Amino acid sequence: MHPHKTRQPYPRNQWWAAAYSSEVTRELFGRTILGERVILYRTEQGNAVVLSGLCPHRAFPLEKSCLVGDSVRCGYHGFTFAASGALEAVPSQTALPTGADLRRYPVAERGGLVWIWTGPEALADEALLPDMEALGPDNPAWATEQHMPARIAARYTLLIDNLLDLSHVSFIHADTIPAGDKVASLPVELVETPQSLNVRRIGKALPSNPFFKLMFPEHDGPLDQSFDAEYFGPHLIRTGGDLFDSGSGKRLGTQNYLHVITPETPGSLHYFVITSRDFATSNPALSNVHVDMGLLIQPQDKAAIEAIELVLQGLETRRGRYRPAAIPGRSRFAVASKARSAPRRTRPRRQAGEAGQSVPRAQSSSILSMRQRSLAATFMPSSSLNRKASLRWWRSMSRFCSLEGVIMSAAAAISCTNPDIRASLPVTAFPSRSTGGKFPIGD
Ligand code: FES
Ligand SMILES: [Fe+2]
Repeated sequence: MHPHKTRQPYPRNQWWAAAYSSEVTRELFGRTILGERVILYRTEQGNAVVLSGLCPHRAFPLEKSCLVGDSVRCGYHGFTFAASGALEAVPSQTALPTGADLRRYPVAERGGLVWIWTGPEALADEALLPDMEALGPDNPAWATEQHMPARIAARYTLLIDNLLDLSHVSFIHADTIPAGDKVASLPVELVETPQSLNVRRIGKALPSNPFFKLMFPEHDGPLDQSFDAEYFGPHLIRTGGDLFDSGSGKRLGTQNYLHVITPETPGSLHYFVITSRDFATSNPALSNVHVDMGLLIQPQDKAAIEAIELVLQGLETRRGRYRPAAIPGRSRFAVASKARSAPRRTRPRRQAGEAGQSVPRAQSSSILSMRQRSLAATFMPSSSLNRKASLRWWRSMSRFCSLEGVIMSAAAAISCTNPDIRASLPVTAFPSRSTGGKFPIGD
């Protein structure tokens, strides 16, 4: 598998890990998940809550706000939202605008992680969560270590690609994973279960080394070691596996490395690594070695896939595409020249005054004066005045605004001479024109 496309849609009907449970406290905490800003916190009873993280009033980042009991009070104008996401108070008025609630994500805690369901709430089924007891972290008889959460500037599919092809261990991690140099030459078998697909390699009669000795101090002689890469979904891949005595075939223990992946944006991801084992569970030295090895191994993978991400982004131009070049005997990536050499397609431009198009398309984006652009930029999330985006922004802003918001948006709108934008404004945001100067929202 190799991801050749950017802007791939994320799978949304899916549980994704938003944070370690220990990161979610009575302090508001913000993170971007699948391109959406969210806030995380705990109620006074200790339940994890995940809500959309931008205030619907003026898009203020709610992680810069505060908790009042179990409610979130926006740090900008004081809109207050219950833990259910419902808007429950607007300081400047008694009537509450409808449709200004925060989204509340279904949440579950498993394996020391807070998982959120990003699809429709009706489809959230906790039976779809990974079985963290079978994998170790929720089994009290196993020893578990959580590694530092990492952010990697690469599309999440590149990390899946990395983990399912463990032949890279022999090269990238040759100096950091004991016996890793053998992995690339081991035969591969596929093992399918109802929940997973396991790409399994087994190293036979691997000579003892200091790491094996630390894991199994009583054991002498060579070991057989599984190098699994078990795919449970885009959110979880397990590596590691069983270790056996080479002579008797007796299982000595299981060491799982759980790689929990969450897309952050189309070009970045969150990475949570958890190690869990069912042997030497009271050996803190072994736990420390796992964490220390993680600090060496993870940056090697991060550097590799971030380098690939840069290459892919460089090859993906607005009009150009890339594909493996068809050169007999070898392959390489090349920018497809077709799109460049093909004559540029132009859209027939409508004439001014034609039905349904009062403003020529080429002029519509430049119709705002510099003063209007800077004024509008004050009220918009981005200063790039894309026409469609600006219309969307005006609609949503004027729908959710408080009394002060009405005044401010009306002030901006009055100075806007673009007839499309003026026409898009609901009556509530333009009191002087449509309501005889009376504000229909609030007191
Ligand atoms: S931005 Fe949150 S209340 Fe105004
Ligand atoms: Fe790796």
